[in-house]
Amino acid sequence: MRARRVVITDQSFPGLAHEERAAARAGAELVVRSDVTAEAEVAELTAGADVVMLAYAEITDRVLAGLAEGATVIRYGIGYETIDVEAAARHGVRVCNVPDYGADTVADHTVMLALAVLRRVADYHARITASESGWVSATDLGPIAAVSDVTYGLVGTGQIGRKVAARVRAFGAEVIAYDPYADAEAVAAEGITLTDFDTLLECADIVSVHAPLTPETRHLIDARAMAAMKDSAILVNTARGALVDTRAAAEAVSAGRLGGLGLDVLESEPLEEGHPLRTAPRTLLTPHAAFYSERSLTNLQRFAAEEMERALRGESLRCQLRR
Ligand code: NAI
Repeated sequence: MRARRVVITDQSFPGLAHEERAAARAGAELVVRSDVTAEAEVAELTAGADVVMLAYAEITDRVLAGLAEGATVIRYGIGYETIDVEAAARHGVRVCNVPDYGADTVADHTVMLALAVLRRVADYHARITASESGWVSATDLGPIAAVSDVTYGLVGTGQIGRKVAARVRAFGAEVIAYDPYADAEAVAAEGITLTDFDTLLECADIVSVHAPLTPETRHLIDARAMAAMKDSAILVNTARGALVDTRAAAEAVSAGRLGGLGLDVLESEPLEEGHPLRTAPRTLLTPHAAFYSERSLTNLQRFAAEEMERALRGESLRCQLRR
């Protein structure tokens, strides 16, 4: 029988014990790379592979056409916008993601960003450490709203959006949301009030983005949307960078037309040299790290490795995506 091959195209995990054990149990060869993401290189690396595991690699029609018959593609994580799922269906390639490895951690990080920007944590720190006096009066950086007076606006009410809602409601905030495909029952159970997009922009003190990146949501938060937000509003994005026009966001916050930015995801990662976000005021950036805790990382790799083993054994997948 032909030796089966599992290819990991790109990853930066501290170790791959789960993957190594799963491949060994299924008698498959494991090929590991850390940085192969561009179509041509991915196609070359994965030609004839039975399983491809990826973080951000481009899994295009051409890549899919080169895989072994009945191959499986496993996305390490939730969003799968770099995979052509329709082409996969045409080629008989199964695709799955790992939707449930760390939504709590992403929600924790989102709320941390929102509150840190609202409470001006970085600015206080900078003023204490960089000013001659070594101090700053609390009210010098005001006004700062009480969290219990804040209207928190979610864009997207899936698993992460709802977990964010539960957390900020515990702080006493009111939660409103825009989501054209909302699960009305689940949303009501979290005490979230659904609104249309314009109402959300107009009313929210914090706009928090939790939708998938699709052609429909690309630049959903553009210059027009930001102009409709309150001048004091804070924009938080831990979903995907391209949901927000980040240049327009940097301009708006620099011109005082937005209250602050908390961004874990950017349109280009790493952030380009000279990008206006590098010098934007009242802005906190984290490096696509919202998913990361020791627990979520373990879950992510274990769940993905288990899918790999199921794929190699020809069993049904736990989280197969269907178009
Ligand atoms: P989910 O699939 O559970 O929820 C997405 C929600 O967005 C759904 O309720 C859906 O109806 C809604 N939605 C779809 N189109 C919309 C539109 N046009 N406008 C408003 N809402 C819309 O996804 P989940 O797990 O909650 O993930 C949310 C986001 O977080 C995704 O973009 C995902 O890629 C991202 N993510 C980011 C991580 C990070 O480390 N920063 C880690 C994990 C996920």
